[in-house]
Amino acid sequence: MLRNMASLTVRQLDDALKEQLRRRAARNRRSMEEEVRAILRSAASDVDAPASPPESAGLPGAPPRTETATRRILLIIGGGIAAYKSLDLIRRLRERGFGVRVVMTNAAQQFVTPLAAGAISGDKVFTDLFDSDSEFDVGHIRLSREANLIVVAPATADLMAKIANGHADDLATAVLLATDKRVLLAPAMNPRMWSNAATQRNLTQLRSDGIAFIGPNQGEMAERGEHGVGRMAEPLEIVAALEGLLAKPKAQRPLAGKRVIVTSGPTYEPIDPVRFIGNRSSGKQGHAIAAAAAAQGAEVVLVTGPVALPDPSGVSVIRIESAREMLAAVEKALPADIAIFAAAVADWRVVETQNQKIKKGSGQAPPLALTENPDILATVAKSASKRPALVIGFAAETEQVIQHAKEKLAKKGCDWIVANDVSPESGVFGGDRNTVHLVTASGVESWPPQSKDQVAKSLIARVVQALEKKK
Ligand code: CTP
Repeated sequence: MLRNMASLTVRQLDDALKEQLRRRAARNRRSMEEEVRAILRSAASDVDAPASPPESAGLPGAPPRTETATRRILLIIGGGIAAYKSLDLIRRLRERGFGVRVVMTNAAQQFVTPLAAGAISGDKVFTDLFDSDSEFDVGHIRLSREANLIVVAPATADLMAKIANGHADDLATAVLLATDKRVLLAPAMNPRMWSNAATQRNLTQLRSDGIAFIGPNQGEMAERGEHGVGRMAEPLEIVAALEGLLAKPKAQRPLAGKRVIVTSGPTYEPIDPVRFIGNRSSGKQGHAIAAAAAAQGAEVVLVTGPVALPDPSGVSVIRIESAREMLAAVEKALPADIAIFAAAVADWRVVETQNQKIKKGSGQAPPLALTENPDILATVAKSASKRPALVIGFAAETEQVIQHAKEKLAKKGCDWIVANDVSPESGVFGGDRNTVHLVTASGVESWPPQSKDQVAKSLIARVVQALEKKK
């Protein structure tokens, strides 16, 4: 090739070099994919790993690069051990249809490579302020202009200090100084660095400059034996925070002015002061529905049994234990426009709850007489005076899922049933994914397996459609 170069025009030389680079990139692709998989595998097995491990590196079968994505995020990865979580953050954002462009600081490249971030984002990763290619191609002003929002994750103490003082000596800080977009910082650092007076001073300055923050959370640090406030927020928490910043004003969202009641979680039916009858419901689906309805502007009352989940933001949460308490709380929350019953209510309670712990000793197991609990869904759906316009139930089934769901739709008098297979093989109870069928008077729609968050969003999207049709 060199032999022929002298006779080439600049344009031809450029094309030849590009072709060579393209071939090299294709050769590197396999090893690049390996590298990404290895990083994600190690992230999944790390003690500091995100709540739900990555399922794929987002390579083959990943959503296509969203040139047309209407919501574009510029992710600036700072130099900290939490940088590996930013790879999962890219994947989570792309799953939700965001276009993601990545800028990495020099320090960040000590923790994850631009190749890995680029393979997951499906785009070139930008690293240098004085890289003539990038500046010519995109430029730091365009990087900011083409984003709807900028996220810095992890935001190190050093990056926070630079942003607070208006430095612009690398691409990341130059973009941040030049931007007129909202900026969200997800700090991550050692707890002593976080509580240091200088960092706290920078935090106050950045907040007053209009910069939004998510985290840091409390917990174990990467350094052995270190514990405290300084862990970067989990990728899904960062996604929720940025979705909140991008959301339309509440009054313009489709469920603005609508009141929605959601039940979630299990109920516990007391036997004595220490024992109860319960079930394996985690509340993830019900909580996700409450969050999705609130995100669409609804006023949401979430009546929940005992769960180990944070309260969804922007939702009024009423905590109860037993089915009868759940019914009373739901009745108190009425009237409503929409009611969604996702709770796994215990069907029976013991007739006589003991005031003292039942003791062994008589040689006989205590007789536990059971009586049926009130059916909260049926009570509300059949209410003559307070029935919401749209009443949605769930059907948790272990066999003949659709058949049983159709029977429940008729028996309980609700408008829709979301039927799911909760047999142990399905992994629904406690898991993050769900496969559901929407059963209505007009038929059965089977949705593909998806995350519980996605099921919640799709269900709320259907609710919005149904309300619009009624207008
Ligand atoms: N449900 C309710 N109150 C009850 C029992 C169930 O509100 N006491 C609601 C659930 O929240 C769900 C729907 O009814 O929306 C169906 O619940 P499921 O447990 O599937 O059915 P059951 O009615 O309990 O019937 P079975 O256990 O016989 O399947």
